Parts: sequence; C-alpha cells; structure tokens
Amino acid sequence: MDTRTATANIGVVGLAVMGSNLARNLASREGNTVAVYNRTYARTEELLSEHPEAGFVASETIDDFVASLAKPRTAIIMVQAGAGTDAVIGQLVERFEPGDIIVDGGNANFHDTIARESRIAPTGIHFVGAGISGGEEGALHGPSIMPGGSAESYETLGPILASIAAVAEGEPCVTHVGTDGAGHFVKMIHNGIEYADMQLIAEAYDLLRTVGSLQPAAIADVFARWNEGPLESYLIEITAEVLRQVDPATGRPFVDIVLDQAGSKGTGVWTVQNALDLGVPVGGIGEAVFARAVSSKPAQREAVQRIVNSRPTVQEADASFADDVAKALYASKVVAYAQGFDAIIAGAEKYGWDIHKDRIAKIWRGGCIIRAQFLNRIAEAYDENPDIATLLEAPYFAQAVADGEAAWRRVVATSALSGVPVPGFSSALSYYDSLAVKRLPAALVQGQRDFFGAHTYKRVDKPGTFHTLWSGDRTEVEVPGH
Ligand code: 6PG
Repeated sequence: MDTRTATANIGVVGLAVMGSNLARNLASREGNTVAVYNRTYARTEELLSEHPEAGFVASETIDDFVASLAKPRTAIIMVQAGAGTDAVIGQLVERFEPGDIIVDGGNANFHDTIARESRIAPTGIHFVGAGISGGEEGALHGPSIMPGGSAESYETLGPILASIAAVAEGEPCVTHVGTDGAGHFVKMIHNGIEYADMQLIAEAYDLLRTVGSLQPAAIADVFARWNEGPLESYLIEITAEVLRQVDPATGRPFVDIVLDQAGSKGTGVWTVQNALDLGVPVGGIGEAVFARAVSSKPAQREAVQRIVNSRPTVQEADASFADDVAKALYASKVVAYAQGFDAIIAGAEKYGWDIHKDRIAKIWRGGCIIRAQFLNRIAEAYDENPDIATLLEAPYFAQAVADGEAAWRRVVATSALSGVPVPGFSSALSYYDSLAVKRLPAALVQGQRDFFGAHTYKRVDKPGTFHTLWSGDRTEVEVPGH
C-alpha cells in the first residue's frame, strides 16, 4: 500500500459526467478535500487539467485512492448501476476497515441495495445507498439527496452531503431517509412521480394544441404563466423552454421535429412493479409508464391508423379552456403525488423504515427534477397530521381538488369527445371518483368470484364470511373459520 497522507475527507469513484460534477461540487465547498478515482486514468487526468481549482487528490490506483482518504474513509461510487457498481464495491470492501463508509450514488434498484448492505454489514463497513436527483446540473450546483444506510454512517456523511445539496428555504435538501435500501426506494418513487408529472404536463400541452388550437410558442407562454401560480415547478418551467425552442435546421418548432416515442431507463417501471407488490394503486405513474410504452410501438400505432377512417371532431374550446386545463392538471398532479406518498408509506411499513413523509417532501423542494412550491403544501399536510389516510383529505388539497373538480371533469369529457388521449388525467379522475363514491362495483366482482370459484364474500349487514351455492339451490351458507 502507498504511504501517501490521508488528506481527503471524501472520495468519488467514477468520473463520468455525474461523478465529476459531484466531485467538483464537493471540492467547491469549504472544508472538503476530495479524492478522485476512475478506472481509466486518462479521464482523471482530463478532469484535473480542466479543473485545477478543485484541488483534487487524484489516484491512479484504487490502493492509492483508499490511502488518500482520512478515516472514517468515505467514498461515493458514481458508476453505472449494476455490475460496475458491484466491482467497485468489491475493491473498496477489500481495502476499507470497520467504520468506513461506501456510498452508492447511482440509480440502483433498492432490492440490490438491501442485499448489498446485508452482505457488507458483517464487515463493519457501512454501505449507504443514496438517491441523487437533479441530473448533471444538480450534481454540480446542488442536488436533492436521499441517503439510506445506518444512522451512524449519517453522522459522518450527513454534513458532507448537506454541504453540496440544494438549499430550499434555508434548509439543505438531504435527510437520512431510513436504513439500508430506504434512500434508493424513495428515489425510485421520486422518479415514478416524475414520470406521472411529465405525462400530465404532456397531456396538458396536447389539449392546448389540439383543442385549444395554440401553437407551441403560444403554449410556452401559457406554461410560463402557469409557472407563476400554484403549478410553479421545475418541470413546468423547462416545458415552456422546450416548447419555445425552434429547430435551427428547419425553422420548425423543436417539439415537431422530435420523434414521438418516449424512452425510459427503468425506474418508472420499478415503481409500478413494486407498487403492485405492495398493493398500492399508483395509476398515475402506471399510466405514464404505459403511455411511454404505447408511444414506442410504431407498428401497432400504424396498424390502427391504417384501419381508422375518421377521427372524432375536435370540440371547440371556449375562452376558459386553458384555465380548465390548468385546474385539471393541478388536480391530477395532487392525485399522482398522493399515490406516490402512499407507496412510500407502504414500502416503509413492509421494509421496516421509519420514513418521515414531511422530510421527504421538504428535500424534494429543491435540487431534484420534481422540485416545486407544491411540496411545501405536502410537507405541511404531513407535518400537521402524519397519519392522514391520503393526501387528498388534507384540507389544502381537498379544497384545491374541490375547486378544480368541475374543470377537471370538463377537460376529461372534452378529451374523450375529441379523441385526445389523456390516460393520466382520466385515470387520476377515476381514482378520485373511486375514493369518493359511496358504493363501488367491487361488490359485483366479489359476487363473480364467489360464483366461479367459491371465493366467498362479506355482507354489509352482518359479520361473517359467506358463500352462495350457485350451482345448487342458491341458498347462502356461512363459511366458518374466516
Ligand atoms: C433525476 C432523474 C434521473 C433520470 C432518470 C429517469 O432525479 O435526476 O430522475 O434519475 O433522468 O434516469 O430517466 P428515464 O426517463 O430515462 O427513465
């Protein structure tokens, strides 16, 4: 082992864009000395020459890197999730000592994080899965950070992460989310909400364009105006920018020259898969994932377009149409966030995490992709009563949805009559209605289940479990032991 002095309080492994931006962010904060290591040294040299001001402690070998870290050694891994992460973890575990901290800052699957943590815990080394949101710019100027792992590791890590996190209303956007995979779980839900929010915004755009007959530049103005009110958020802000963009090659609106097939890297799918396992309805996120999938099926789209002779006549928009869409967007967004927080609550219960919902809402106010004023309202709601059954019952949101309800229904009806696909808006409204009606047709489903499979049912008028003898004389029998 190298005999170099251990001067760095934090190290970064993996110097692609996210890693090098995070390393630069760390180096720019008072009190941090940052060690850096990359598998190919040429990348490290490039970073050193581009950013001499950072004062990086660079190493060509992993041994030197480890030797350059002061104890407890703390290293953040910023490599592609998967096999690359495991390889680096292995190298560090071999060299680290009890009390040292390995942080995985990638978009890892939280199940992998739980498994890694339990594998590493017996060595006495802390393994922390940390969700980091905000893209390249966030990593450089201040992300929202969602670390899991032990409370003990957070004593060392917390102040370092707080030094680089975004600041919202004076508070750093970082909190100890919970043990083992809690941080990556919450980051996954963040991404699921991000998908839902983006889909709802895209539907609002489509309606303003198709029904409202507005051109992208005019819609950009609408979004910019919305960004001054309750819808204020990073995603609304960048939507205005994207819509205002003109393609330099053709002079056409940028949005018109982009192929309409949305990609994804998988975190939205994970959110829905896990919500299904947890039994939590996250229709808003599910519809967003499916909407991307539908968009990316050109063969099916073309097949149906070929056989469709006529499309519905687009309804006429009145002067208040844009305001209606804003209200529908807001109400649908409340539903999507309510569903996302429901998934956090269910995950916390299943995996034994003590997650403070108000703190999660607060660390999402700045730095991350879903950052918005709106999150203050969520923080307040959970702060006031952490045990509310759904965000929709919190007085502020109940009022907001009630105020927008009529507009929301008009927009969904207009979309259906005009043939504009709004899976996000309509599933959010159906979810709301499912909660709001006194009786659901689930009673009939229970009857069907009992008919074909003797799955039994409960009655509204007395306790017990029952089965009707459907293939016999159709009398009812009580089923004991239920
Ligand atoms: C963030 C983003 C970031 C990212 C995801 C989602 O919080 O900074 O969520 O993690 O953009 O990779 O991307 P996809 O849309 O490609 O799944």
